[in-house]
Amino acid sequence: MITRKQFIERSSTLVVAGILAPYLGTSNNFARGGKIKIGVIGCGSVSTMYLPHLSKSNYVELVSVCDIIPERAKAAAEKYNVPHQYDHIDKLLAGSSFDLLVNLTNMQEHGRLNKQAVSANKNVWSEKPLANSYREGVELVALAKKQGVKIWGSPAVVNSPQFAFMAKAIQEGKLGKVSAAHAHYGHLGPTWSAFFYEKGGGSLPDLGVYNLATLTGLLGPAKAIVAMTSIITAERTVDNKGKIIVEAEDNAMVIMQHANGTLSHMQCGFNYFDPYGHEGEGQDKPTISIWGTKGNMNLIGYDWAPFGVDMASVDNEKTIRYATDTDSYVWEQGASVIAESMALDTQPLIAVEHALHVLEIIEAARESQATGKRIPITSTFKFPIIK
Ligand SMILES: NC(=O)c1ccc[n+]([C@@H]2O[C@H](COP(=O)([O-])OP(=O)(O)OC[C@H]3O[C@@H](n4cnc5c(N)ncnc54)[C@H](O)[C@@H]3O)[C@@H](O)[C@H]2O)c1
Repeated sequence: MITRKQFIERSSTLVVAGILAPYLGTSNNFARGGKIKIGVIGCGSVSTMYLPHLSKSNYVELVSVCDIIPERAKAAAEKYNVPHQYDHIDKLLAGSSFDLLVNLTNMQEHGRLNKQAVSANKNVWSEKPLANSYREGVELVALAKKQGVKIWGSPAVVNSPQFAFMAKAIQEGKLGKVSAAHAHYGHLGPTWSAFFYEKGGGSLPDLGVYNLATLTGLLGPAKAIVAMTSIITAERTVDNKGKIIVEAEDNAMVIMQHANGTLSHMQCGFNYFDPYGHEGEGQDKPTISIWGTKGNMNLIGYDWAPFGVDMASVDNEKTIRYATDTDSYVWEQGASVIAESMALDTQPLIAVEHALHVLEIIEAARESQATGKRIPITSTFKFPIIK
């Protein structure tokens, strides 16, 4: 068994050696503009958002659906005209051929199922987290490279026009020297499945992941973090298991140090009274704020469902709302966007190295809570994402 420190040192060497370097624009085997065959695993709550989006894409052919609860796969197959349905990943992988696995299962299952799919030469789009530990994620990406396939992880927040506006404003120096940022996302927690509260679940990989991807996507890779986490509600009642003991953190705060001394703070949790609820309907308040020496910006709405960006600067002290396009981006577009990029052989904005970086931060946040220490972050990703 190697320690986390030894593993990180070793994986950093792999990155330097180029083994895990971003694999850019390798040409694929798909006919340009043709449809990408997709197998969806996990036909629960989030599939009801993914499947309609995928079925409307010109670049997608939905081939198979799979769930260990067979009625769910059957219902999804009927509703979205998917020709094949399975009740086990072994049958899915051995069944009708497809190019991209879309993994929408319980968080704890992602690492195992993604590995099995990559080993069977499937490309993978995974709901967050990509794997259940940073180490597992790094190994998965290395395996994908060895197998000649690709893997990507949710979220898709870097695709929004609001993210693009904020990224450009920062890169163009509109905020001056960026000093500080704050982001928050919470609600009262999912009510349907126990896995959100079991070991390997938690508010960090379920909710914090969005803000961590946005903050690092805008401010650059984190170099070190400190964090505290806690459990506020020790027992819950959920639809699939009744009364359960909460094992994973349902309350978290992380402070990140980025380049040039920029500090950001992120808070998330499953105990936030929030009139907008899990669906976020009607949230039109700022959820991400960034301050610099020449300006400040506020993202209006959640980063996964943004409405605009309010900005004030030395050039124009009156706050103005920019980037009000709400038609071109929805959070559930990730797998469709990846299928399109595979079909057209283009490079998506979403990069697996960014998902791995966020996974390392989440793991480090738990380590910081356990040890009381500041934790260095070693992974990085191509930055800036948008110039
Ligand atoms: N529900 C949402 O609104 C939402 C939004 C964004 C992201 N997500 C993410 O999507 C993932 C799934 O969440 P959900 O809310 O849909 O959960 P869910 O419990 O509603 O659905 C998960 C489904 O996966 C199936 N499953 C579990 N293990 C499996 C296996 N080994 N093989 C095949 N099927 C398996 C379950 O039977 C279930 O039907 C999580 O990673 C979650 O963080 C959910």
